[in-house]
Amino acid sequence: MSRPVLKVQDLTKIYGEGEATVHALRGVSLTVERGDYVAIMGSSGSGKSTLMNILGALDVPTHGTYHLDGVDVSKLADRQLALARNRLIGFIFQAFNLIPRTSAVANVELPLAYAGVKPKERRRRALAALEVVGLADRAKHEPNQLSGGQQQRVAVARALVTEPALLLADEPTGNLDSHSTEDVLNVFDQLSAAGRTIVIITHEPDVGARTKRLIRLVDGRIVEDTRQSPLHLPPVGAFAGRHAV
Ligand SMILES: Nc1ncnc2c1ncn2[C@@H]1O[C@H](COP(=O)(O)OP(=O)(O)OP(=O)(O)O)[C@@H](O)[C@H]1O
Ligand SMILES: [Mg+2]
Repeated sequence: MSRPVLKVQDLTKIYGEGEATVHALRGVSLTVERGDYVAIMGSSGSGKSTLMNILGALDVPTHGTYHLDGVDVSKLADRQLALARNRLIGFIFQAFNLIPRTSAVANVELPLAYAGVKPKERRRRALAALEVVGLADRAKHEPNQLSGGQQQRVAVARALVTEPALLLADEPTGNLDSHSTEDVLNVFDQLSAAGRTIVIITHEPDVGARTKRLIRLVDGRIVEDTRQSPLHLPPVGAFAGRHAV
């Protein structure tokens, strides 16, 4: 079997000390294989952002191990860690984080510029990425000339232009209305169908309902990790049962 994109074992994260100690993660183990499409759900305070920051190599666990594309992240010095992060992970954030007054295509090119790709090649790859998210005709538009859903799709193009091993999204539809949410989720579905590995942290049941795999966090622990069929629909009567609780 090929090596997993990410593998964490028995992660704990403790913030603060003494009276103020918070156990944000209490022994999380998780393996994500290439091509997986995962939603991580949980209520506020359950540890989602804490886990996302560790998976994104933006923070370190208190205990436990993390292998990203086979590399033990805890053994990397800061500079190597930043390089691994840039090479292996494409981030998508709730607030899009595009550079203002800069065209969509220039935004998408940015990670390639950091990677030292030559301008012509950069432009070609950025336009191809915009094509993938359905925005080739908006390449010259600046963020304030795009809808929220379009801005987020530009952000997705920027995340995938470097061909990272993992697309990691933190509440990617949190700032979007239902129509734009649908557009962005369709892009994720399409990327998944094309073989990308995607992990989405989300509050929204709509998002969790359409990934291949759903992980639920409660109070810093994984309480559910289920595989779903692509068009996952609850059985007849399931909603009535849930509402009764
Ligand atoms: N820097 C920090 N210092 C101390 N405690 C923290 C810190 N960051 C998070 N926590 C605590 O850790 C727990 C998990 O927080 P986390 O932000 O991971 O939750 P979350 O699931 O992302 O919540 P939300 O849905 O509200 O974003 C919470 O009890 C929170 O108060
Ligand atoms: Mg959070």
